[in-house]
Amino acid sequence: MVESKAWNWNVVEDDHKKYWLEPAIESYYLIDRWQNQGKQNFLDLGCGLGRHTIQFAKAGFKTFGFDLSEDSIKKTEEYAKEAGVEVELKVGDMLELPYKDNSFDCVYCRNVISHTDTKGMKQIVAELKRILKNDGECYLTLGSKQSWGYQQDWPVVDENTKIRVEDGPENGIPHFYADYDLVTELFKDFEIVKVFQVEDFVVRETTTSSYHYHVLIKIKK
Ligand SMILES: C[S@@+](CC[C@H](N)C(=O)[O-])C[C@H]1O[C@@H](n2cnc3c(N)ncnc32)[C@H](O)[C@@H]1O
Repeated sequence: MVESKAWNWNVVEDDHKKYWLEPAIESYYLIDRWQNQGKQNFLDLGCGLGRHTIQFAKAGFKTFGFDLSEDSIKKTEEYAKEAGVEVELKVGDMLELPYKDNSFDCVYCRNVISHTDTKGMKQIVAELKRILKNDGECYLTLGSKQSWGYQQDWPVVDENTKIRVEDGPENGIPHFYADYDLVTELFKDFEIVKVFQVEDFVVRETTTSSYHYHVLIKIKK
């Protein structure tokens, strides 16, 4: 399996950092959905600078944040203190989550679990199944093969995975790319509640847009 590598948040410019501090659009829907379902224990898997960790804690969820980057966890801790919310944070690798079976009602992993190869992806999917409670749900995004990155001449790990080469925070980080069939195959043991592809990080002039599948899965009854 390819080696995991954390984001290097130190090289993210302030302009770009703003993006990672403002909650993503679907997070408001998820809060509403999961509050209505009475869900409580929430994991922000690959929490980055903690934008959703803090948002969900403010909304009253018992919130856990997890990331491979020590800087991420330090920043999230700082922002949580400023916001006056209690959160439980841990540094670690998503390939082996340090949580007991059936720990979480809901998990959010936005632009995180693609940072591995095909073997790692299968392991993460198994980890999600293990840590979610019986009626648990997870919202995640996966890089799409339609993305600019998948077309690049970067080092190949396997048929779905390349190692990104750039000057920015993702240098040397594995990127797994999926198509619709691969998404349905990966999550065949879950109920797929929603799946759709979004063109985000749109750059028209250079056609460097990246696309992600957004997937809401649920433990099968
Ligand atoms: C693109 S950022 C997204 C952060 C956050 N989910 C958000 O939406 O703001 C990806 C995060 O995943 C983390 N990450 C990458 N590989 C990881 C791994 N193997 N285990 C845990 N976290 C990982 C990175 O360190 C980084 O903070």
